[in-house]
Amino acid sequence: MNTNVWKVDKYVDNLENNPQVVDAANFLRENELVALPTETVYGLGGNAESDEAVAKIFAAKGRPGDNPLIIHIAERQQLNRFVTEVPPSAAKLMDAFWPGPLTIIFKKKEGALSEKATAGLETVAVRMPDHPVALALLKTCGLPIAAPSANSSGKPSPTKAEHVLDDLNGKIAGVLDGGATGVGVESTVIDCTGTLPVILRPGGVTKEQLEEVIGKVWEDAALKDQSARPKSPGMKYTHYAPNAPLFMVSGTREFLQTLVEEKRGEGLRVGVLTTEENESFYEAELVLACGRRAEIETVAASLYDTLRSFNQGKVDIIFSEIFPNEGVGHAIMNRLEKAAGHKLISE
Ligand code: TXA
Ligand code: MG
Repeated sequence: MNTNVWKVDKYVDNLENNPQVVDAANFLRENELVALPTETVYGLGGNAESDEAVAKIFAAKGRPGDNPLIIHIAERQQLNRFVTEVPPSAAKLMDAFWPGPLTIIFKKKEGALSEKATAGLETVAVRMPDHPVALALLKTCGLPIAAPSANSSGKPSPTKAEHVLDDLNGKIAGVLDGGATGVGVESTVIDCTGTLPVILRPGGVTKEQLEEVIGKVWEDAALKDQSARPKSPGMKYTHYAPNAPLFMVSGTREFLQTLVEEKRGEGLRVGVLTTEENESFYEAELVLACGRRAEIETVAASLYDTLRSFNQGKVDIIFSEIFPNEGVGHAIMNRLEKAAGHKLISE
């Protein structure tokens, strides 16, 4: 299949009538797949009402069928078609954070969406992305769009159209190239179907921000305890991994450099994941700075791009600095732990 690349300037007014967006929307209406930029990462969009389109999403990504998809909408009233109720906590969160990097789990209306999209669950995950190209596409096609991150299953999520093409070229109808995404890690997933609101995946909206709006918020036990079964099916899979094994290192930069020396002594090509502050300190085959530690949002924004860049550098092993596990740092550490398969070396 030929994969179209439609360049779109996200600063243009009235993208709804933009010919590239209209082209992409037509493919979605024909149950073909289109990758689209969101404020978090690129999504792989398909018609959420169509079993055919949803099956194509799972096939293109090589995604396990028990991992449900997030449904993307442009207008709140679209919810009425496939959600049974909007609890007061969810309404407050939508007022505060939509459009934005927050996915909310609702009770699902039977029969309104492809059963495959929700992996047969009684709930459905929904978000309204805060990106002009995504919103224009959603409005133009008028459909609820199922969109997982547009990477092959297990790889780091794509934050640029090039990343999407690396994984999915020839497998999808096209990608709307709106440049690099902003937040860089996926949306926060919160379950509002029970008596207490529970974070299932940390992401672009922090726990602190959520608590300012609805009071105490809980976290799924699986986020702290690896042996607990996660409520969000996707959280149990290995994710975001570069080709070489990645180890998180807790300790000084001098300690990390001694680990590098040891492996170089064994003849291995070593990579180091650091930030601009420490970039010139390390000596290794490939030292990559992932944003600035002092501005943690910049680390989130370039994390996946950095993880992918290690593959081009052909290293045998990667050592990574770690980050404070709070605010956006919580989402960064959650993704880094998964990329490392929880391997941590402490000084
Ligand atoms: O930022 C994002 O959320 C990106 C962009 C493209 O919107 N999308 C994304 O989708 O990260 P994906 O498929 O890579 O991750 C969806 C997560 C998975 O962990 C999945 O298990 C969970 O959401 N999820 C989806 N529906 C669910 C449900 N009904 N109950 C619990 N978890 C659900
Ligand atoms: Mg994903």
